[in-house]
Amino acid sequence: MKSQDIRKQFLDFFQSKGHLIVPSAPIVLKDDPTLMFNNSGMAQFKEYFLGNGTPKSKRIADTQKCLRVSGKHNDLEDVGFDTYHHTMFEMLGNWSFGDYFKKEAINWAWELLTEVYKIPKENLYVSVFEGNPDENVPFDQEAWDLWKGLIDEDRIILGNKKDNFWEMGDQGPCGPCSEIHVDLRSDAEKALVSGKSLVNNDHPQVVEIWNNVFMEFNRKADGSLEKLPAQHVDTGMGFERLCMALQGKTSNYDTDVFTPLIEKVEQITGLKYTSNEIQNISEEQNKTNIAIRVVVDHVRAVAFAIADGQLPSNTGAGYVIRRILRRAIRYGFTFLGTKEPFINKLVEVLANQMGEFFPEIKSQQQLVANVIREEEASFLRTLDQGLQLLDKVILESKEKIINGEKAFELYDTFGFPIDLTALILREKGYELDEEGFNSAMQAQKTRSRAASEVSTEDWSVLIPGNVETFVGYDQTENDVKITRIRKVDSKKDGVLYQIVLDHTPFYPEGGGQVGDKGILSPALSKGEGAIEIIDTKKENNLILHFAKQLPENVNASFIAKVNTGLRASTSKNHSATHLMHQALRKILGTHVEQKGSLVNPNYLRFDFSHFAKMTEAELQQVEDFVNARIQEQLPLIERRNIPIQQALNEGAMALFGEKYGDNVRAIKFGESMELCGGIHVKNTAEIWNFKIISEGAVAAGIRRIEAITSDAVKAHFELQENTLNEVKEALKNPQDVLKAVHSLQEDNAKLTKQIEALMKEKVKNLKTALMVEIHEINGVQFLAKQVDLSPEGAKDLAYELGTFGTNLFLVLATAEEGKPTLSCYISKELVASKNLNAGTIVRELGKFIQGGGGGQPFFATAGGKNAAGIKDALEKAMDFVK
Ligand code: ALA
Repeated sequence: MKSQDIRKQFLDFFQSKGHLIVPSAPIVLKDDPTLMFNNSGMAQFKEYFLGNGTPKSKRIADTQKCLRVSGKHNDLEDVGFDTYHHTMFEMLGNWSFGDYFKKEAINWAWELLTEVYKIPKENLYVSVFEGNPDENVPFDQEAWDLWKGLIDEDRIILGNKKDNFWEMGDQGPCGPCSEIHVDLRSDAEKALVSGKSLVNNDHPQVVEIWNNVFMEFNRKADGSLEKLPAQHVDTGMGFERLCMALQGKTSNYDTDVFTPLIEKVEQITGLKYTSNEIQNISEEQNKTNIAIRVVVDHVRAVAFAIADGQLPSNTGAGYVIRRILRRAIRYGFTFLGTKEPFINKLVEVLANQMGEFFPEIKSQQQLVANVIREEEASFLRTLDQGLQLLDKVILESKEKIINGEKAFELYDTFGFPIDLTALILREKGYELDEEGFNSAMQAQKTRSRAASEVSTEDWSVLIPGNVETFVGYDQTENDVKITRIRKVDSKKDGVLYQIVLDHTPFYPEGGGQVGDKGILSPALSKGEGAIEIIDTKKENNLILHFAKQLPENVNASFIAKVNTGLRASTSKNHSATHLMHQALRKILGTHVEQKGSLVNPNYLRFDFSHFAKMTEAELQQVEDFVNARIQEQLPLIERRNIPIQQALNEGAMALFGEKYGDNVRAIKFGESMELCGGIHVKNTAEIWNFKIISEGAVAAGIRRIEAITSDAVKAHFELQENTLNEVKEALKNPQDVLKAVHSLQEDNAKLTKQIEALMKEKVKNLKTALMVEIHEINGVQFLAKQVDLSPEGAKDLAYELGTFGTNLFLVLATAEEGKPTLSCYISKELVASKNLNAGTIVRELGKFIQGGGGGQPFFATAGGKNAAGIKDALEKAMDFVK
C-alpha cells in the first residue's frame, strides 16, 4: 500500500466514526509562548483540553506535521543514526473533546490496525499505565480490561510514568496513556527473543506506532495534578512507522516516504544507499547511509518550516531551522563529498511527492528551494573559513592536543561543528581537548539558561467559566472585571502580571500588529489607583494584559482604556501595509507573497517573496500607488464573520502558515482584500501620506520594505529639510548647493592625488636615507625606526626597503595624529630559515603601544593607543634578532 493511501485510509476510517477531518496546523506555532513548533497532534487543540475554547466538533481527526527538535520532546541528535526517529514526521491522530473515552478509543485503534490495515495480531503488543501512588494516580484497570477483551493477556505490558503517562510539557494537560507497539522482526528472530522483552527497549524493529492518551489531568506550576473539567482522548500514530509496518519494511527510510528522496541524493552524489535488509555493510557504507538519512530527513523539516513561513535566522525558531539545515549540509560535506549546494534540489522531489496532500509545499516550491540554496552556499563558505582557521590553530599549537576552548570558539562564532573539528584533527594526527570543549559549552549553556529562566505561577481564577471576548474593533474603553491573574517572573523582564478580563477592548499582538497599551483603572476612582497595561498578547485563546503591578483590589470593577493615540498610528500603518501589499502584487507581479510583517505605531515592516532588488522606479511606483489609494479616500469595508470559502472566492488574500477558522474577518479597501484580524483606519484618507524608507534582502528571494505614514512622514521630511539647511549653512549658503558640493568633491579628489604623489616622493627620499641606517645583527639586516609617514606610507616604505636583500628584519613605527602603529617586515627567506613570524612579533611589540594586531608571517601591523610606547617597542624589536 502506498503511503498516500495509508494516510487516506486513516482519515476515512475516523470520518466513518463521526470525526471531522481537519487540515494539519502549520508546523510553526503562533500564540503559544511555551512551544516553538507543533510537536504533537494535540498542540493545536490544547485550548480545548484546558477549557478555553470550543472545538468545531467533539470528534476530530487529522494528520499533523510535527517537529521534535526543541524543548521537552527533542529527537534531533538521534536522527540519522537510527531508522525510526525523525525531525519532521506526520502524526495521525483522533480526538475526543469531552466525548468518547477509553472504550471507543481502544476498540477503534484495534479495529483499524487489525481489520483495516490487517496487521497480524501476533505482531502487536500494548501497554497500560501501572499507576503512581505518589501522585495518587491509580493503575489503569479500565484500559487493562478493555485490552484483555481484544488481545492475549501476556501481550499487555505495564508501563511506568516515563512511558505511560503523557505530558505535553512541564505544565498543561496530561494523563495516562496506552501505547501500541509492533514487532517487525523475522520469525527466526522472534523465536530466539520474545518481542515482549524488547518493547520500549530501543529496538529498531520493535517500535511504538500509536499512543492513545486519556487526558484527565492538568499539571500545575507547583508540579501537582488537578482533574480537568472533562475527559478527553488524544492519540498520535507515527505515520512513517505505520508505513514501515504496512509496506513490509524494517526501516522508515525504506518506505516510499523516503525512497524518492534517497534516489535523488544517490543521483547527485553518485553514492549508493543500502536498504536495511542488507547486512554486514562496511564502516564506510554505514557512514554514507547515516549521512543520507540525515539529509533526506532534514530537508523535509526545513522545507515545510519555510513553506509555513519560518525562514532560517539567527534567533528563536528560525535558528533551530538553520541548525537543522546546517546539520544536513555538514553530513553531506563530510560523508557524501558534497562541496556545492545540493539539498535544495531535493525540494522538487518532495513537492511532487507530498504536494497533493500539503499544497503549501507545491505552491512555494521555488521559494523554498531558493532559500535553502542560499543557506547552503553561505554555510559552505563558513565551513571553508572554519577549515582555514582550524589549520591556523593547528599551526600555532605547540602540542598535539588542541585547546577545547579554541574549538568552542570555532563552534560558537562560526557554527563550525565540533565533531567535524574532532574528525579533521584526528586525520592530521592531533587530538581535541574534549573536556575543555565540554566545559566551555556547559558554561555557555548555564549562562543562556540563566538569562532565559522563567517561572510561571498557576492562574488564580477570580471568575470561573467566563470565556473572554474581544470588543476592540468597536470600542476602546469598557467597564470590565478581572477573571484571572498569573504572576510570571523572568530574568529578561522581571516580575510581570498577566491579567485576563471578562471582555476587552485591548488588541492582542497578532498578524504582525503589536499589542495595545493603555490603562486599567478602578471604576469609581476617577483615575486613582490605575495601573498601566504595557502589552497585550494572546495565549491559547486567552487575551493576556501585561502589567508591572496589580491593582489594589482585583475584585473591583475596572475601566479598561486603550491608548488611542498609539492605536491610531498603528492602524494607519496596518492599513498602509495592505495597500502596499496590493501595490507590490500589481507592480512586481502575483509571485509576491507576504512572508512576515510588523506593524507598530512608528513604522511598518513587510517581508515578501521577490527575486530581485527593487529598482528606484519600482519603489516610486509603489509609493505613488499607495498614495493614490489614500487620496481616493477609500472607506473601510469590514466583513466580520464570513465563511472562509466565500471570502476566498471574493478574492481575499490568505497567508500560508496562518491558521484560519471556518469563519473569517475580511478587510477591504477598494480592490485590496485580505483576511485579517487587525485594527484598521475607517478611511484611507486617515493615513495622510505614505513613504518607503528602506528596501533590502532578508534571505534568498525575500525582500523587506520599511515604510512610514502620516505624522512620521512629516517628521521625516522635516529632518531632511533641516539637514539640507545645515549643509547649506556649512557651505556658506551658495546659490546652487549641489554645484557647491560637486566642486568640493572635485577639489578633494585633486588634493588627494597631489598628496599621494608627494607621499611617494617622501617614501623614495626616506628609502635612500634609511638604507644606510640598516645594520647587521647576528647575520640579519636590521632596522627599527619611527618614520613621519601615514601607516600606508610605512607599509610602502617597508616593501620598498624589502627589495634590497633577503635577510631583512624591519620594524617601522608611525604616529600620525598621535595614533601609534607598528609595521613589521621580514624577508621570506628569514621567515623560513630563522622561524620568525611578523604576526607574532607585532602582537608582542603591540603591547608597548597598548594595542594589538596581526597579519602574515612576512608582514604584519599593529595599531595602539599609547604613542609614548613606540620607543620601547622599537628597542624591544632588537631582541628578536639578538
Ligand atoms: N499526544 C500524544 C503523543 O504525542 C498522542 O504521543
